[in-house]
Order: sequence, then structure tokens, then C-alpha cells
Amino acid sequence: MRNNYELWLAFIACSIIGGIYGAVVFLTRGIPPASDLFGHALGIFGFIMMIMTELLYSLRKRSRSARWGRMSAWLQFHIFTGLVGPFMVLLHTSWKFNGLAGVTTLFTVVIVLSGFIGRYIYTRIPRTADGLEVGAIVSPEMIARTRRLMALWHTIHIPIGMALFTAAFIHIGAALYYATLLR
Ligand code: HEM
Ligand code: HEM
Repeated sequence: MRNNYELWLAFIACSIIGGIYGAVVFLTRGIPPASDLFGHALGIFGFIMMIMTELLYSLRKRSRSARWGRMSAWLQFHIFTGLVGPFMVLLHTSWKFNGLAGVTTLFTVVIVLSGFIGRYIYTRIPRTADGLEVGAIVSPEMIARTRRLMALWHTIHIPIGMALFTAAFIHIGAALYYATLLR
């Protein structure tokens, strides 16, 4: 995590997706509705990326086996999907934020912003490529404070994720039932 590759890649991916979205708006002369093919696809693929964000890094973190790839690479992937997925979901909303779907979008924005704060704190702790902390001997005071801050951050970031996915699953169930099946 000593570089910003994941942020640049996410920026490029979002620019390409934004470009395609812009082309659709131009060609159809309107905002793609959330329930049409394009808007729906954005919602579904974006949401799949968000589920990957929620699950994969946590699973790798708990596996503790280097066989599954370096932790730093998984965190970079976490951040990439954690930015591109929400961006696609944002385009899916058709810029309407009523009711529970609007609340779900708000949670999504909050978790992404919280992610940036977490990334900032995380990168202040020197680590090996596998995420293990180093340097506790060199500057124990600084590391202890940053580690406490990181623990506090976890107690906020994780529940927001849970609230987000609970709201998202209710939205998806209701949207599919009312807007897709009953049409
Ligand atoms: C975290 C993920 C998601 C968020 C934040 C989200 C958010 C939204 C928002 C804000 C709207 C507009 C509501 C309005 O009209 O005011 C919407 C509509 C819709 N969403 Fe999602 N969505 C997500 C995922 C999905 C997924 C995965 C699906 C499909 C499987 C889906 C299906 C729909 C449908 C069908 C509508 C249109 C409802 C209608 O026309 O009344 N959404 N969504
Ligand atoms: C859909 C969006 C996101 C979701 C659902 C999500 C979810 C999570 C979860 C559940 C964890 C806890 C992992 C664990 O300790 O087991 C986590 C950690 C983390 N996330 Fe996210 N995240 C999202 C977006 C982001 C973004 C955009 C960033 C950075 C810009 C980010 C940075 C981090 C960092 C730095 C950690 C801490 C890593 C650690 O302590 O090992 N996240 N995230």
C-alpha cells in the first residue's frame, strides 16, 4: 500500500463507465431509469462488486495463509471494488433518492468516505506486504495511538457496512417484486 495504484485504476475504470453512461444519456436523450436494462445492469454489477468488497478482504484477513496472495494486494482490490461498485450503483439510482433506496445510497456514500479515512489511518502504520505491523519498536507511542484510532474506525466502518447490506437486500427484494415482476 505504498503506492496509489488502486486509486488510479478505480479512477480510470470510473471514467470509462462514466463515459459509457454519458453516451447512453446522449443517445437516448434521457437519464437511464433504474429499472431498465442499462440502469438495472449498473445496479446488479455494482452491487456484486460491493459484496465482493465486503467479503473477500475479510475472508483473506482471517485465512492468514500467504497461499491466497498478499494482504496488501487484497486491500488494494478491496479499495478498487469499493470505489467502482458504489460508482456504478450511484449511476443506477437515476438520481432519485426516495425512501429506503435513498437511505441505502446514503449508507453507500458514508462507507466510501469512511473508507478513505480508514485508508489514511491504515497507511500511517508501517507494515510488511502481508499486512503485519512493523516499527512498533522504533516508535511505540505513535504506533499505539494509531492502532487505537484504527480500532475505533473499525467499530464504525463495519456496522455501517452491515446496515448498508441489510437495507440493500430489502431494496432489491422490494424493487424486483414491485418494479420488475409486477410490471
Ligand atoms: C447498494 C445497492 C443499491 C442501491 C444503493 C440502490 C439504490 C436505488 C435508488 C436510489 C433507486 C431509485 C429509487 C427512487 O426512484 O427514488 C433505485 C431503483 C431501483 N433499483 Fe436499486 N439500488 C441498489 C441495488 C439494486 C440491485 C442489485 C437491483 C436489482 C437486482 C436494484 C433494482 C432496482 C430497481 C428495479 C429500481 C427501480 C424501482 C422503480 O422504478 O420504482 N437495485 N435503486
Ligand atoms: C462498498 C464499499 C465498502 C465496503 C462494504 C467496505 C467494507 C469493509 C469491511 C467489512 C472491512 C473490515 C475488514 C475486516 O477487518 O475484516 C473493511 C476494512 C477496510 N476498508 Fe473497506 N469497505 C468499502 C469501501 C472502502 C473504500 C472505498 C476504502 C478506501 C478508500 C476502504 C478501505 C478500507 C480499509 C483501509 C480497511 C481496513 C483494513 C484493515 O484494517 O485490515 N474500504 N472495509
